[in-house]
Amino acid sequence: MSRAFLNQGLAQTTMHPLDLKVKSARGGYLILEDGTKVLDFISGIGVSSFGHGHPIINAAIQEQINTHLHVMVYGEVHQSSQQRAAKNLLALLPDALDAVYFVNSGAEAIDGAIKLCRRVTGKKKIVSFTGAYHGNTIGALSISANEIRKAPFQPLLDQVSILPWNEPSSIDSIDNETAGVFLETIQGDAGIRIPDVHWIQSLRKACTKKGALLVLDEIQCGMGRSGKPFAFEHFDVVPDILCLGKALGGGMPIGAMVSNVSLMEQLAYAPDLGHITTFGGHPVACAASAAASQLLADVDWEELERIGSRIEVELEGIDVVQEVRRMGLFIAVELQNADQVNQVVKGCLDNGVLLFYFLSTPQAFRMAPHLNISHEDLELGLDVIKRQLTLLDS
Ligand SMILES: Cc1ncc(COP(=O)(O)O)c(C=O)c1O
Repeated sequence: MSRAFLNQGLAQTTMHPLDLKVKSARGGYLILEDGTKVLDFISGIGVSSFGHGHPIINAAIQEQINTHLHVMVYGEVHQSSQQRAAKNLLALLPDALDAVYFVNSGAEAIDGAIKLCRRVTGKKKIVSFTGAYHGNTIGALSISANEIRKAPFQPLLDQVSILPWNEPSSIDSIDNETAGVFLETIQGDAGIRIPDVHWIQSLRKACTKKGALLVLDEIQCGMGRSGKPFAFEHFDVVPDILCLGKALGGGMPIGAMVSNVSLMEQLAYAPDLGHITTFGGHPVACAASAAASQLLADVDWEELERIGSRIEVELEGIDVVQEVRRMGLFIAVELQNADQVNQVVKGCLDNGVLLFYFLSTPQAFRMAPHLNISHEDLELGLDVIKRQLTLLDS
């Protein structure tokens, strides 16, 4: 059991941290203090989608640092970095999503969305689904599904209903009391679970009929990870609120809830300042985000799909692999048990490739390579992963 962080006066989140000592990071690689290069096949858990230290993102950050840092709490003064970040993001979204509220993290976007649902509908009940992971603040944890992770922190929010995911019966449970329905468009922590198109569309219809807001959590599956700019585009639905984070900042901390002006304006009155944040929409994070959205607009989606299906086909052929679940470059590889997953993740790391676990799906490991991964890095990573999987077979 490691106390590596506690021993340095830092809080520790696990007794089994990766313990790598990072010196720098560039492109596809983390460079460790001893000079070792580690190929990052998880993009810092879905954050650095265009590689580490992308020159366009770095230049945007540097320019903003030379212009100004924090000047005032969110929503009081006009800042061009926020305007650029909103403009570039909204350009990628349907017209119905035309107002962005920038916050500091994914969980904060979820908490803000819970408030917006209750404020706008005047109702209390929040619906989410089995397998859901929405973050770790009290609000986001309350609507997440892993009961083991919630138990020590009870009581959490009440009036939360967790319904069976992807089950037609859940649609009928959305009633006139429901303020908001929260769904990861593609579930991440549940091991990359892709719902049925008709189910999401029925959910959309039920929300409209019952006066509930549909909130899609694309904190992990958004910003290109699914093979389109936003995962909801695969399902031909538009949410009332879209929650974003992770890759939104190109490596800087930022989250967002995106909605419609007519809903969002209600946070500005009754009460005045109904949702406020000091650092939300930080100018440096917004400058990086504006650059990340710009890069997203130029992704070669066909090439991304070729990379994804190459990974899928290569790994599916290995005996020990039970299933590869994938949309775009959002990938789970399910093995026979958690022990095997541990061996593969450790074996790959010993051979210079970083994979990682899911919190709630121990029998699978995650892969989320950079959207612009080079041919060379792809081949190198795949070779190492295949070799480790084959070692389990023999
Ligand atoms: C789907 C989803 N929602 C919410 C969150 C919470 O985001 P954050 O860790 O930035 O608070 C995460 C983080 O992994 C996530 O994957």
